[in-house]
Amino acid sequence: MKTSIGTLLLTALTSVIIITGCKKDDDTPTPPGPGPAPTPSLYLRLGGDTLVADPAAPGMEVKKGYLAIRSVVDSSIFVIAADPELQPYFAVLLGEVGAGQLTNLAVLSKSLSDFFAVGAGATSIQYAGLNMVDAHNPATNPRMTGLVTNEAHDRFIADVVIGAQQNNVPMSIIQEFGALMESLRSQIVQG
Ligand code: HEM
Repeated sequence: MKTSIGTLLLTALTSVIIITGCKKDDDTPTPPGPGPAPTPSLYLRLGGDTLVADPAAPGMEVKKGYLAIRSVVDSSIFVIAADPELQPYFAVLLGEVGAGQLTNLAVLSKSLSDFFAVGAGATSIQYAGLNMVDAHNPATNPRMTGLVTNEAHDRFIADVVIGAQQNNVPMSIIQEFGALMESLRSQIVQG
């Protein structure tokens, strides 16, 4: 009998502790925590400012994130240059390349790489070229042969996706670049 009362008391006490404990937990506001860590920028996920050997310049180093972007840009320029739907837009550049003049090809590679690096969140890189409206308007950029249509912009994005795939860029990252290019459509498509 004694044991039985003792057991009952113990059970009751345990219940009170549990209930009180639960009640206290429920009433206590959750302290504000740091929350989930923000996703690092696309540029950082591509390697950021970590220096690596530059495969295009023996003895030189290049930022890993920049190299990833420049590799995609250079592959994409080849895809675009071979695309009959886009070739007419790049007639000035293709004419120079055909004549063995590669300076402006290198300038465009750097401009596009700088632009995408900044768009991907690089804070150590500056883009010094024209804004996207002026860059794609023949009135402000004589290297443009005509106004860009929606179809041409679709094609440009598709060609950059191919250029990224040629560099084994993961699909999730390609999608983020696709979204970045899509967000610029209203500035680039003026025709
Ligand atoms: C989101 C997509 C695009 C981006 C981020 C982009 C970016 C750029 C940049 C940074 C430049 C260099 C500007 C300068 O010289 O200061 C440029 C030039 C140019 N872009 Fe785009 N562009 C895009 C789409 C297109 C499309 C769809 C076309 C045509 C179909 C196009 C045709 C050109 C041409 C012809 C040039 C001049 C190339 C040269 O210097 O010979 N771009 N673009």
